[in-house]
Amino acid sequence: MPNFTRREFTTSMMNSVLAYGLIDALWTQNLFAAEVKPVIDQWFKDLYAVGEDLHGQKLKDVDFQAKMEDLFRKVDLPELMKFIDLSGIKERVDIPANGAYSASFDLSKVEGLPKELNFGRQIFCLKKDRAIVPHGHSNMCTGFIVLEGAFHGKHYDKLETAEDHYIIKPTIDDQFAVGGVSTISDHKDNVHWFRCTSETGFIFNAHFDGYASDITIPTGRLYLDPEGEKLAGGLIKAPKMTSETCHAKYG
Ligand SMILES: [Fe+2]
Repeated sequence: MPNFTRREFTTSMMNSVLAYGLIDALWTQNLFAAEVKPVIDQWFKDLYAVGEDLHGQKLKDVDFQAKMEDLFRKVDLPELMKFIDLSGIKERVDIPANGAYSASFDLSKVEGLPKELNFGRQIFCLKKDRAIVPHGHSNMCTGFIVLEGAFHGKHYDKLETAEDHYIIKPTIDDQFAVGGVSTISDHKDNVHWFRCTSETGFIFNAHFDGYASDITIPTGRLYLDPEGEKLAGGLIKAPKMTSETCHAKYG
């Protein structure tokens, strides 16, 4: 046993008491709250906060897109899956024979998150060889995180909009495993198309709509056929499609 003098012993005890007292004080003041609350609560709040910057015109869509992608890559995936109750979704959802099922999840229990959210969200559920069919968006930033399964994902820049077609340019053609992330904005990688390559696949999606006052096209999906006429410079003339024709060919 160390041979403490009375003075050393007293000093050592006092240091411990002080340290303990300080920690206790910090704890009661809730200064450790960020660590002790579920990390996923903070993650959704961060997503909301960056969305406020987009809607408040403090961030351009491509800058917002980069921030959203950053946040998506940093997510604690097991915590996210627990939070959205992916196993419950898998039990209750009858995955369709064509296209993707869109499952909802509850965010009302996230402490500190406003009731009026600035983003929409869903979990896409797909069977093998079925797809989130090729489509673009207008006045929307949105992103995917693969929660389970594997996907072949493609993105295109939407360069021009004509009466019956779009001019698009391939930008991403990749395999996406669990944790794989992809995002779109009006000005980068606007068209996406994800085909499930595993028995089943599940994708987290959050989307921020209607942030630009100068874009008047509605935010719904803009279906198109990326297997259109090949043009010079790697561009594609992609005919517009309806949801029905697009799902019949690609769903
Ligand atoms: Fe989309």
